[in-house]
Amino acid sequence: YTKDLDTKTDIISTVEFNHTGELLATGDKGGRVVIFQREQESKNQPHRRGEYNVYSTFQSHEPEFDYLKSLEIEEKINKIRWLPQQNAAYFLLSTNDKTVKLWKVSERDKRPEGYNLKDEDGRLRDPSMITMLRVPVLRPMDLMVEATPRRVFANAHTYHINSISVNSDYETYMSADDLRINLWNFEITNQSFNIVDIKPANMEELTEVITAAEFHPHHCNTFVYSSSKGTIRLCDMRASALCDRHSKFFEEPEDPSNRSFFSEIISSISDVKFSHSGRYIMTRDYLTVKVWDLNMENRPIETYQVHDYLRSKLCSLYENDCIFDKFECVWNGSDSVIMTGSYNNFFRMFDRNTKRDVTLEASRENSKPRAILKPRKVCVGGKRRKDEISVDSLDFSKKILHTAWHPSENIIAVAATNNLYIFQDKVN
Ligand SMILES: *[C@@H]1O[C@H](CO)[C@@H](O)[C@H](O)[C@H]1NC(C)=O
Ligand SMILES: *[C@@H]1O[C@H](CO)[C@@H](O)[C@H](O)[C@H]1NC(C)=O
Ligand SMILES: *[C@@H]1O[C@H](CO)[C@@H](O)[C@H](O)[C@H]1NC(C)=O
Ligand SMILES: *[C@@H]1O[C@H](CO)[C@@H](O)[C@H](O)[C@H]1NC(C)=O
Repeated sequence: YTKDLDTKTDIISTVEFNHTGELLATGDKGGRVVIFQREQESKNQPHRRGEYNVYSTFQSHEPEFDYLKSLEIEEKINKIRWLPQQNAAYFLLSTNDKTVKLWKVSERDKRPEGYNLKDEDGRLRDPSMITMLRVPVLRPMDLMVEATPRRVFANAHTYHINSISVNSDYETYMSADDLRINLWNFEITNQSFNIVDIKPANMEELTEVITAAEFHPHHCNTFVYSSSKGTIRLCDMRASALCDRHSKFFEEPEDPSNRSFFSEIISSISDVKFSHSGRYIMTRDYLTVKVWDLNMENRPIETYQVHDYLRSKLCSLYENDCIFDKFECVWNGSDSVIMTGSYNNFFRMFDRNTKRDVTLEASRENSKPRAILKPRKVCVGGKRRKDEISVDSLDFSKKILHTAWHPSENIIAVAATNNLYIFQDKVN
């Protein structure tokens, strides 16, 4: 089914389930975070699985201005990461280009009443009027969900933050920008450790930027980062404080027959994700998704074509800047299926075992609530069959960059511009 966010103008910029999938957070271009919560299964309709309803909405980041550099800092939320739940409250990290914030989201259904020094509206009382001491009491009230910023991790990034990743020790996290990666402790906001720095002494020698970074899901000393040259480096924080020397380097030699003016641009990696098992890493570049085995550095073990029909259109995709779009990719809970986005509100799924793939569409016209998604097909040249869409009529302004997969069920969230779609397996 589809769910509209309350705003029409705001483009969703990130989507993330919490570790059990009961909560789903989205961030948008306007700096807002909207959290959806799955309804409890109802006793009368046991076959109806819970839908996701808005649980909390709050403004995470505001537009700012860097007076020193005369630059505007956008409020757009680049990434959200949940922390595992430890008490009644939920914690998440959100980041824009420069500043990471730790938010606490908690429920309140009681209100203290009967303060001595202030009245019920919070105004201070005239001390001369206070003649007796009262004991404040808690009174029940309607459930309220509050979001409060607990920590602000600022002033550590000169370039734009593209990734944040929570370490499996749950005490630290990292934030990566174009040239550097910093390691933070959740408790300490005035200091971070620089663990990767690829900034050349002379910026004219710059040939490569960091595009994404992620911690290993189980080994707290290991992380990977990807680059605009299509390479992935695996680093071990035990080796040295500054991980400038990688311990593994994943790169596929380029097929010389495919070389073109666009080779370097389309090989830039826009997303990197460890599998839940920690054995594989998945990378997304402009035309493909690749799966790498941590034990094999010289080529990926699987390569999936996302939209190979665009290979002949790279020139116009360069002219309209689409070639620089940053598509993300996700695993399903058991690492057996991969999902990533494309244009025309299409998204793709690849089954690693059966090698079957499917193209689906997230659009209002085609997916009424509870409708079943029909596979779509793009045809290249020749005769167009019924139900097929020609490459030339794809809408490149409708792109699916951000998706998320429920950690243990076949439920997916797909962000299409300012609409969020949640699809689930058919229930009999
Ligand atoms: C995810 O959110 C739900 C709240 O609906 C909570 O019960 C659960 O503990 C959360 N999971 C984790 C691992 O934080
Ligand atoms: C950070 O703040 C703490 C507590 O205020 C202080 O003890 C510490 O010296 C500060 N560290 C730096 C690097 O400023
Ligand atoms: C070269 O291009 C063909 C399609 O034109 C594609 O199938 C193949 O995977 C490409 N090779 C590499 C190494 O990208
Ligand atoms: C992953 O996808 C496969 C194929 O659709 C499905 O059988 C399996 O249940 C999925 N796993 C999870 C945890 O969603």
